[in-house]
Amino acid sequence: MTITRLLVAASTLTALAVAATSATVDVRAAQTKNASEGIYTKAQAERGLTLYDTACASCHELGKFKGTEFANAWTDKPLLDLHTAVASMPMDAPGSMKPAEYAEIIAYFLSINGYPAGTTELDGSEASIKAIKLDAKK
Ligand code: HEC
Repeated sequence: MTITRLLVAASTLTALAVAATSATVDVRAAQTKNASEGIYTKAQAERGLTLYDTACASCHELGKFKGTEFANAWTDKPLLDLHTAVASMPMDAPGSMKPAEYAEIIAYFLSINGYPAGTTELDGSEASIKAIKLDAKK
């Protein structure tokens, strides 16, 4: 083998390694966690309650986010759907709250709909939210 061919072979191997690495990352991003597995903490949901009362309750009855209404609108869908709707609020200042605050409100909604709390807080970044499915409550 000439030096050139060796170099070509080596760079092909590098390209393959890079492709393999990014394929692994893609698979992880598509992996789905379920909301019924405990994806928020109790403390987080309590902060969400306070936020809801300050930022949302002036326009919304809590009943809109509970029970059948909640289930019909958001269950069996990516959590991202609910997150997108929540992050488009408050109506008079869309997206004005921090990602962590939107996550707290979602945690609160999950808690009042009987989804169990867990030991890890729901991370409000879009990448994390994307990996979660709002499965039907067990
Ligand atoms: C100034 C009034 C106002 C405030 C404050 C407000 N909303 Fe809304 N919201 C609306 C209106 C109006 C709609 C559209 C009609 C409806 O679905 O009730 C809406 C719709 C929604 C929807 C449903 C969107 C959809 O696609 O079905 C969600 C979820 C929601 N709001 C969550 C919140 C949350 C969470 C907060 C607090 C961070 C909040 N809203 C604060 C007025 C408001």
